[in-house]
Amino acid sequence: MNAAIANDRNTDHVDLLMNKVESSADATARALVNTVLSPRFYTTRFEDFDRLNVEPVRAEWDAMMAEYEGDNNHDHFQRDAQFAEEVKQLMPQLSPELRQEFIDFLISSLTSEFSGCILYNEIRKNISNPDIRQLMTYMARDESRHAGFLNQSLKDFNLGIDLGGLKRSKKYTFFKPKYIYYATYLSEKIGYARYITIFRQLERHPDKRFHPIFRWFERWCNDEFRHGESFALIMRANPHLLSGLNRLWIRFFILAVYTTMYVRDHNRPLLHEAMGLRSSEYDYQVFRITSQICRQVFPVELDIDHPVMRAGMDKLVEISAAHQRAKSRGGLLGWASQAVHLVRATWTFGRMFLVPVKSHELPQQVRVSPVW
Ligand SMILES: [Fe+2]
Ligand SMILES: [Fe+2]
Repeated sequence: MNAAIANDRNTDHVDLLMNKVESSADATARALVNTVLSPRFYTTRFEDFDRLNVEPVRAEWDAMMAEYEGDNNHDHFQRDAQFAEEVKQLMPQLSPELRQEFIDFLISSLTSEFSGCILYNEIRKNISNPDIRQLMTYMARDESRHAGFLNQSLKDFNLGIDLGGLKRSKKYTFFKPKYIYYATYLSEKIGYARYITIFRQLERHPDKRFHPIFRWFERWCNDEFRHGESFALIMRANPHLLSGLNRLWIRFFILAVYTTMYVRDHNRPLLHEAMGLRSSEYDYQVFRITSQICRQVFPVELDIDHPVMRAGMDKLVEISAAHQRAKSRGGLLGWASQAVHLVRATWTFGRMFLVPVKSHELPQQVRVSPVW
């Protein structure tokens, strides 16, 4: 094992290994968890969506809606005959640790997909703005397919999640509409970047494709790309969201999304290693793709290669591990130590936030193609 992988592994994934997912109830319990790192369900102030006006980007909007209507992925989320065969053949070869990391990956991906599905559906039900309603109908359709497809793979392990129950029982976090635009745009685009990076890697190294679901990622991530395009158009049509103090919010959300992903991915070193990747290398590739795409809408971009940024990412992984250890220890000492790690994390995040950003003019044409 080389030093970098050893370093990646050096992070704490105690939580994953100690709280194994062995039944549907365990899987649902994992999906219900709300921590800084786990995917959440959101609710918002729906009236604001009624007031959104997409006239300034009408031509691009209509072209995008025609694509949604064309629904080129309508037949994609069905398993072929080979799927079951590959599962039967490949799964017994996974080590118990890799199996747990993969299951955790499936559960957190399912939770994020389903989170989108619920949010888009709720917006649709609570507004009358015809443009946004139509958009939400299409996006909820796509996310529901994605969540269902992931759940089928969990069912292969007898770990299927009761989505209706999850919807009723999981806590909802309120986000102002403005934060929904930034966070949802980013999570759709980062979702694209994550899936396409995995797909390209396994395209180059088919021997490392340890589960058939990865074959689906290319067409799948085009849905996520388009979802991101929709929010890009919404924000470009309402340019006040992209200027003044909001530039600081954009900076904050990019950093929050990037750091969360980095820390979470470093809890799954074996998953990336099995694909022939290192967690850090994978994450920086995802950051690079996401940052390039975001130039269509955000006037500022993080300097992801800045030494303070790079060191900060690794520092946060280390703090998160120490925090997790303090939590497992419990007691007054454990609690005090958790508080110290929280302060350290905030300080590190603050330093990263202050790294100068790169600014640029926004392009005339908003939409870009998924060419990565
Ligand atoms: Fe999705
Ligand atoms: Fe999506």
